Amino acid sequence: MAPSVKTVDFLVIGGGVAGLRAAIELAPKGSVLVLTKDKQTESSTEYAQGGIAVALSDEDEVSIHYEDTIKAGDGLCREDAVRILVEEGPGLILELISWGAEFDKEGSKLSFTREAAHSRKRILHSRGDATGKEIERALIHKARTLPSISRYDFAFTLDLIMYGERCIGASVLRGSSVIHIFAKAVILATGGAGQVYSRTTNPMIATGDGIAIAYRAGAMIIDMEFVQFHPTTLYSPTAPPFLLSEAMRGEGAVLKNINGERFMPGYHEMAELAPRDAVTRAIVSEMVKTNAKHVYLDLTHLDKDFVTRRFPLIYSTCLQYNIDITEEGVPVSPAAHYIMGGVYTNIEGETSIKGLFAAGEVACTGVHGANRLASNSLLEGLVYGARTGKRAAIYIDEENVGITVAAPVQREAAKSTLHLSNFDIEKLRSTVRQLMWNKAGIIRCEESLSIIKKWLDRKQPVMDIPFQSRRGCELKNLLTVARLITDSALFRKGSVGAHFRSDLKDRGENWQKHTSYQSGKPMAWFDFT
Ligand code: FAD
Ligand code: SIN
Repeated sequence: MAPSVKTVDFLVIGGGVAGLRAAIELAPKGSVLVLTKDKQTESSTEYAQGGIAVALSDEDEVSIHYEDTIKAGDGLCREDAVRILVEEGPGLILELISWGAEFDKEGSKLSFTREAAHSRKRILHSRGDATGKEIERALIHKARTLPSISRYDFAFTLDLIMYGERCIGASVLRGSSVIHIFAKAVILATGGAGQVYSRTTNPMIATGDGIAIAYRAGAMIIDMEFVQFHPTTLYSPTAPPFLLSEAMRGEGAVLKNINGERFMPGYHEMAELAPRDAVTRAIVSEMVKTNAKHVYLDLTHLDKDFVTRRFPLIYSTCLQYNIDITEEGVPVSPAAHYIMGGVYTNIEGETSIKGLFAAGEVACTGVHGANRLASNSLLEGLVYGARTGKRAAIYIDEENVGITVAAPVQREAAKSTLHLSNFDIEKLRSTVRQLMWNKAGIIRCEESLSIIKKWLDRKQPVMDIPFQSRRGCELKNLLTVARLITDSALFRKGSVGAHFRSDLKDRGENWQKHTSYQSGKPMAWFDFT
């Protein structure tokens, strides 16, 4: 069946914090269509626990939030991007509150908690540990009041549609039909890529689609070696790696090895509140030392009522797995959590492709450097979602952009006649995730990375299959993201932030530069300036 055609002024791909905030900004400027690939709330935003960082408390200052972010980023943050984040954040949070978002309070004042590498209590939270759900709810509610915003849920974006060097829309799978959606500007807000690893906190939707489709369209992708592994996720043979928020350590929880020994003070002066990459590596080191698959997160010294009130979701979820967090240490180990790299954008959300914008976890403005400061991601979604929306609207005005309707050019490679059964798709998906965890995970080296590189080389023909199913396309996107991470991790010959090479522990040459990747070009170093 021939694809149907739809036109709209702005196409926003993604309905998490970044996509929704961009859509709200665009609403007065024309018709906006928001796509999600699953049900409307299924996103990392929905599952965010700890909170949203913002310098709004009496004891805090924007300049201190700036310093903490730069320090966590380990020398690779784009400074002007960080300045924008911390300066524009407070206003956007107050606006969100004015739209109905409710954050926890102590008396009549907002309540702030602390997380790793923050030198102040500056994390706002909602219903204890359900902050993302509340932000998503408030944004969906606000978007519903704006008649120019419509949405297609369960609409899987297959690829971007290019017209010469310009992005003019996207081809989208909805049910079993393909729709070509043409727009004056396209905003990618597809979130992260945690599913490329077998242990991840990320929901099933996080298969790196936006990074892969932007890469296929020729966009510049940067800093893909920087993957953040969250130190504390539930370790149980019967449970998924459910997140145990860093806010628990912020409230006093400590880490102990299987012999009951507290170990973080021996690794870092900030102990349990050291930056995430440091805590993660310390846990791995203790697991190796004690020949164990986990360590323990211990809150048993904290007041029971406080724990159940402060972390109701975590308390009840662990209870489902027969773990009472108020009575016993929780077995935890790290899992892939966040990708600092992604589709290059400037501080206005413009990618290297005209007509294509990006915001949120899919994008890389350089704001997180080599290691994201906890709870800065939801804030990034708000700040850069809004900025990107603003810029996309200016772009169509300034350049007098109309809607171009043109059949997508089929890439040469996409004409393969190779076929994979559903069984093969699932098997490959599971293998690549396992290999990425074992060979390109928390600790990598030339040898381990080369093994996965060779495996990916052998799977290259899969990239040419013109899949028309969500699972098939996700597989292709996971393989693409795996390739980008592996090649970038091999290219950076040193250890910085979350990228740790056991064979090259020093920072290495060019360490202050960023790795960049563009289809058809060799990998290169890149500077934001
Ligand atoms: P998402 O919220 O992931 O939204 C992505 C959207 O894109 C979804 O609507 C999805 O359907 C859509 N999409 C994806 N691919 C396609 C496609 N092919 N076609 C159509 N639509 C598509 N950060 C914090 O700051 N504080 C926290 O406390 C915190 N806790 C976290 C806890 C967990 C368990 C996780 C997983 C992450 C946490 N993070 C936290 C990180 C943060 O939640 C995410 O980085 C952030 O929410 C990403 O927002 P986003 O809008 O970029 O993407
Ligand atoms: C957490 O609650 O530990 C997650 C916070 C984050 O990823 O920023």
